[in-house]
Amino acid sequence: MIDAVAMVVNPFTKRDATRETNRLALSDRAVHDWYRFVLSYPPHLVDEYLIRFGATKDSCVLDPFCGTGTTVVECKKQGIPSVGIEVNPVAQFAGAVKTDWTPDADGLLAHANEIAAIARGELRAQGVEDGPSTTGRTDTPTLPARLRILPPEPWSLLLTNSISPLPLHKTLTLLDVLKRHHDDRYRRHELLALANALPFSISNLRFGPEVGLGAIKLDTSVVGVWLDSVRAIAADLRNLSAKASVPAVVHHADARQLLDVLEPNSIDIVITSPPYPNEKDYTRTTRLESVLLGFINTKERTARAEARTRAFQHTRRVQER
Ligand SMILES: C[S@@+](CC[C@H](N)C(=O)[O-])C[C@H]1O[C@@H](n2cnc3c(N)ncnc32)[C@H](O)[C@@H]1O
Repeated sequence: MIDAVAMVVNPFTKRDATRETNRLALSDRAVHDWYRFVLSYPPHLVDEYLIRFGATKDSCVLDPFCGTGTTVVECKKQGIPSVGIEVNPVAQFAGAVKTDWTPDADGLLAHANEIAAIARGELRAQGVEDGPSTTGRTDTPTLPARLRILPPEPWSLLLTNSISPLPLHKTLTLLDVLKRHHDDRYRRHELLALANALPFSISNLRFGPEVGLGAIKLDTSVVGVWLDSVRAIAADLRNLSAKASVPAVVHHADARQLLDVLEPNSIDIVITSPPYPNEKDYTRTTRLESVLLGFINTKERTARAEARTRAFQHTRRVQER
């Protein structure tokens, strides 16, 4: 029997979402900042409910729409077991990686430094520097003779101009090096660091909170910003390793079929923010990293996700009548 349910409906007004309320307090940032939606709810809300509901290390908290894992990460930080369910594959990946605090921080950093050196070396051999961002630059940078591009179908899934050719070339080079020199102990954390760097530093996207186009970056650092993201992850892993054993699992599943992944009577508390009130298409918000990291590569998968969003929107309209 479930003891308590917190349903956080629209925790921010649209105006607030771009302002202070949705910014993470500095003390909140550890792990949550590894990758999050613009409209993720703030961790302090989860904390408040955990206290109000008297959650302990013997409780189990469920978030059936866990997004990028705010609830499960916060529970783990507080030493409380939790389960998340999420249907968007890149968000589920983020939640799962954000609750895995087992990798050795120094090992991760050493491996990422090796990857960065190889990727920079390969780019330099093609006459490409992984320099700082050149937002606002109007001259077209020289492109390498063999520019890496995406196959037509994945390319057609991206929002037009969401990433410029040279940053895309650098990203695909980095992904190739990560694949060739992968180390299973660090692979998922290194990929999440790239998922984080893509929309917020490498791409031309802007979130306000809807996804749209910002300034077009003809060139920008890719390997450098990725390495910065890995460094931030490593720093958090170092600080939180004592809590690595607190149970937290994030299932890639549909919350409408909970019993496919949950044992009966295994949940004490539910803390969640459901998808339909915001009428968001989360696959659009996360499209660039979903496609580049290979979570979505066919129109069929995108269409299925969009149909799911439409079904929720329809449910909402019916409920409002
Ligand atoms: C409001 S967001 C949750 C954000 C989350 N609280 C956070 O802080 O990141 C709702 C989430 O529900 C997910 N979702 C939508 N339909 C779902 C379903 N049938 N089963 C599981 N998750 C679903 C969406 O992909 C989205 O990530």
